[in-house]
Amino acid sequence: MRRLLVTGGAGFIGANFVHHVLAHTDAEVTVLDKLTYAASRAALDGLPADRVRLVVGDVADAAVVEPLVAAHDTVVHFAAESHNDNSLDDPAPFVHTNLVGTFTLLEAVRRHDARLHHVSTDEVYGDLDLDDPKRFTEDTPYRPSSPYSATKAGSDHLVRAWVRSFGVRATISNCSNNHGPWQHVEKFIPRQVTNVLDGGRPKIYGDGLNVRDWIHTDDHSSAVLAILERGRIGETYLVGADGERNNLQVVRTILRHLGRDEDDIDFVTDRAGHDRRYAIESGKLRAELGWTPRFTDVESGLADTIDWYVAHEAWWRPQKAATEASYAAKGQ
Ligand code: NAD
Ligand code: DAU
Repeated sequence: MRRLLVTGGAGFIGANFVHHVLAHTDAEVTVLDKLTYAASRAALDGLPADRVRLVVGDVADAAVVEPLVAAHDTVVHFAAESHNDNSLDDPAPFVHTNLVGTFTLLEAVRRHDARLHHVSTDEVYGDLDLDDPKRFTEDTPYRPSSPYSATKAGSDHLVRAWVRSFGVRATISNCSNNHGPWQHVEKFIPRQVTNVLDGGRPKIYGDGLNVRDWIHTDDHSSAVLAILERGRIGETYLVGADGERNNLQVVRTILRHLGRDEDDIDFVTDRAGHDRRYAIESGKLRAELGWTPRFTDVESGLADTIDWYVAHEAWWRPQKAATEASYAAKGQ
């Protein structure tokens, strides 16, 4: 891997991955990003200009994608519309980017025989009951619930079909909920941390008992790099760090960390079709590739993330008021 193309590399997980790759490999990186509302040029500030460049463009635009893929040996595909709530308000951009974008990239990868890693989500498996002893594995059937997760499920199927039908050299990872630097304030953890920093209260959908399996984004980055370097072509790897917590537990950790009363919480209108629980069994990734997370307990990872938002108000402040106004209009 010498020349790496990272789609969506100005977004939350993509930008953290670019930092990780620069620190742990000698690859040169091109970021292809449309710079939607969720992107941040600032997340790429300060990186060495001789090793990173940003191309602003649409992953669904073959005229942009073809020459870029031709000039790189490896592609990591993060670009997506990523927020479930937005997909309930308007699914169209999710179909465009997550399905047409992945198709466009696959066609270019096929023509130029590049190595592809496709980044996906545990949400393709639907949800689990709170008392279900099972967790998701690579063999769990697909059962997506939202327009977002349905388009991600479709994109995974496209990748597998291109591997089998055309011999494309691709791997897939399905990761659980990430937290860390540079995540847009629309998402759960940045939203609640910044609400508390503003003197307000966390906003919990429904009863707050929904469970997510939290992982620090640095650990997602190291997993993707391990798969790129040592993963078997055609294989899928689930990425998770045994971080199941319900939403109430997470906001109570945030409130405690920021010195506020743990019951200072507002319960708001639930998300339509709200998945109850996600849980990842990551034994294949650990046994086959020797991957282990750096953050082995959720609370220490969360402390790192909360402190980052405390220290970076200038970064999140410009998005905060408009994001809250749009949630308030929906009773959330
Ligand atoms: P994000 O919304 O923060 O970033 C997505 C990036 O993609 C943005 O920079 C955006 O500008 C870019 N983008 C969107 N449409 C584009 C297009 N048409 N062409 C080029 N670029 C485009 O999302 P994220 O949370 O960083 O997620 C990145 C990937 O990881 C997604 O594929 C998502 O499904 C997957 N994932 C996310 C999580 C999570 O917890 N956030 C967990 C597992 C998997
Ligand atoms: O599981 C991986 C997925 O995690 C990724 O594929 C998605 O791209 C990513 O956005 C995330 O999806 P979720 O829907 O789980 O994340 P979100 O941050 O939107 O919400 C996390 C949980 O918190 C969920 O149960 C909904 C709840 N929630 C969310 C918000 C924004 C609240 O209770 N209040 C809120 O204000």
